[in-house]
Amino acid sequence: MPITIRRATIDDMLCMQNANLHNLPENYLFKYYMYHILSWPEASFVATTTDDVGVDQLEELASGAANASSQCKCDPCYVRPGEKLVGYVLAKMNDDPAAAQSSDALNGHITSLSVMRTYRRMGLAEKLMRQALFALSEVYKANFVSLHVRNSNRAALHLYRDTLEFEVLNVEKSYYLDGEDAYAMKKILDTQQLLPANFQRGSIQDDLESDLLEPNTESSLQEGIQKITV
Ligand SMILES: CC(C)(COP(=O)(O)OP(=O)(O)OC[C@H]1O[C@@H](n2cnc3c(N)ncnc32)[C@H](O)[C@@H]1OP(=O)(O)O)[C@@H](O)C(=O)NCCC(=O)NCCS
Repeated sequence: MPITIRRATIDDMLCMQNANLHNLPENYLFKYYMYHILSWPEASFVATTTDDVGVDQLEELASGAANASSQCKCDPCYVRPGEKLVGYVLAKMNDDPAAAQSSDALNGHITSLSVMRTYRRMGLAEKLMRQALFALSEVYKANFVSLHVRNSNRAALHLYRDTLEFEVLNVEKSYYLDGEDAYAMKKILDTQQLLPANFQRGSIQDDLESDLLEPNTESSLQEGIQKITV
C-alpha cells in the first residue's frame, strides 16, 4: 500500500500519541499534542497508509444498518476508517519566554519522532524530518532547530547526525528520567537548501516544454471512438 506524508491535523493527535506510547519511553499528556498543533499547525507531519480496515463498517453506518455502530472498532492506529498512521514528527518553535528577546526566539525544536516498527528502514523518518525542517524554516522563520537524543539510540543518532547533518553540541548528563545521558543537537536551517525537491530520489525532472496529452491524431481519435463504442 502507498504511504503518504502529509501535514498533521487535529484528527491525527490520538494516533500520534498512540504511536509515541508504542515507540518511545518519553510520553506526553494529550494536551501537549494539542498545544503543538494549535500553536504551530504547519510544523508537524504524519506518515499514513491505506487499507480496508473499518471501511465496511463505515459503509454500513452510512447505509443506516441497525447494529453497525456497535461493530465499529476504535483502533488507535487508524485516523479514520482505511487510513492508518505509521509515523509522525511532532515539532514546535521555541516557546521559552526568557528567550523571547534573544535571537534564540527563532529556533525550532523536534519534540518527538517515531515510525512504527514494520515501517522502519524505508526512509520515512528522514522524509518526515525533512518536511518538518522545511516548514519550521519557511513558515515559522526558524534559524536553527534543536533536539535531544539518547546516547544509546543508534538508529536516531545515525538519522540526525549522518543523514540530516545535525551537529552534536554537547552531552547533557542524566537528561532522561531513567538517568541516561542525551546528545544535544542542532542544525542551522537554510530554506533554499531544505526545499523538498532537492531530496527527491530518482531522476524524474519536470518537462515544461512538451504537452502532457498525446497529439490528437486521426488514428488516436479513431481508437478512442472504438473503445467507447465497444
Ligand atoms: C529512529 C527512527 C525514527 C528511524 O526511523 P526510520 O524510518 O527507520 O529511519 P529511515 O528509514 O528514514 O532511516 C534514516 C537513516 O537512518 C538509518 N537507520 C535507520 N534505522 C537504523 C538502525 N536501526 N541502525 C542504524 N541506522 C539506522 C538508515 O539506514 C538511514 O541512513 P542512510 O540515510 O545512511 O541510508 C525509528 O527507528 C524509530 O521510530 N525508533 C523508535 C523511536 C525513536 O527512537 N525515535 C527517535 C527519538 S529521538
